[in-house]
Amino acid sequence: MTEQASFAIAGLLGWPVAHSRSPVIHNHWLAHYGIPGRYVLFGVPPEKLEAAVRGIAVLGLRGCNVTTPHKQTIFPLLDRVDDLAKRIGAVNTVVVEKDGTLTGFNNDGNGFIQSLRDADREWRPDSGPIVVLGAGGASRAVIASLAAQGAKEIRVANRTRDKADGIAAAVGGVVQVVPWEQRGDALEGVALLANATSLGAAGKPALEIALDRLPKKALVGDLIYVPPETALLAAARRRGNITVNGLGLLLNQARPAFNAWFGVMPEITAELRQAIAATF
Ligand code: ATR
Repeated sequence: MTEQASFAIAGLLGWPVAHSRSPVIHNHWLAHYGIPGRYVLFGVPPEKLEAAVRGIAVLGLRGCNVTTPHKQTIFPLLDRVDDLAKRIGAVNTVVVEKDGTLTGFNNDGNGFIQSLRDADREWRPDSGPIVVLGAGGASRAVIASLAAQGAKEIRVANRTRDKADGIAAAVGGVVQVVPWEQRGDALEGVALLANATSLGAAGKPALEIALDRLPKKALVGDLIYVPPETALLAAARRRGNITVNGLGLLLNQARPAFNAWFGVMPEITAELRQAIAATF
């Protein structure tokens, strides 16, 4: 058993962690809901992860977020991992249970899906075919979560085809791999285009894709939030598509984590969005 301290602490395990916006989000909510506590950054190099994870419950933390390079390597250090996180193959949130054991979750994909639904109430994961660009960790979280929420056809295009094949094998029948060169053609009839590559992020090359086949009523989501509007989102907005950047994922993945740690399901307000915007 672990004593639950009245001053509630959660944090982020990663290496490096300095760039993270998560403290702004969680500390904003702690203040807003009058909960005595703090969300802090823990820079933990890979060789010290095991010792750090053993310390989570001992020190009375409520839990933590997990970021690179620990999202996969933390698996064997946890007491249990929920099914979706297993299918994603990565953990982004750890919750300390009442008995001091540790459970791993991954809220990234569901956070992205929620941000899309917030932007377009008509859209659902089963509204129509989906194109996801990229096959890294973020893509896998989004694809596994879309499939878990009922998506019927997800077309994945990645520069390195093997990685897309790996996601298709892990997630199952609803995922089809499309050659990277045919990413524009794959937009025919889709209800959602999601960019989960790093192309278009600050300092990275632009994503090149012809949007002429993309239906005007399709949603376009980009997991990138620096810059807040990538060239993809700007082009999609100009032709009339509803667009969503990656800030919504960041905010929405944080809600269930905050609830699990601090016992309140927090709201995403204009004030919180301003607090984040002020950090850019
Ligand atoms: P994350 O954890 O954010 O998903 P990642 O695992 O490094 O990050 O994945 C980056 C994604 O961007 C990959 O899909 C990568 O394609 P590859 O699998 O071929 O590496 C994609 N990406 C990065 N640079 C790219 C480029 N110049 N052209 C095409 N795709 C690129």
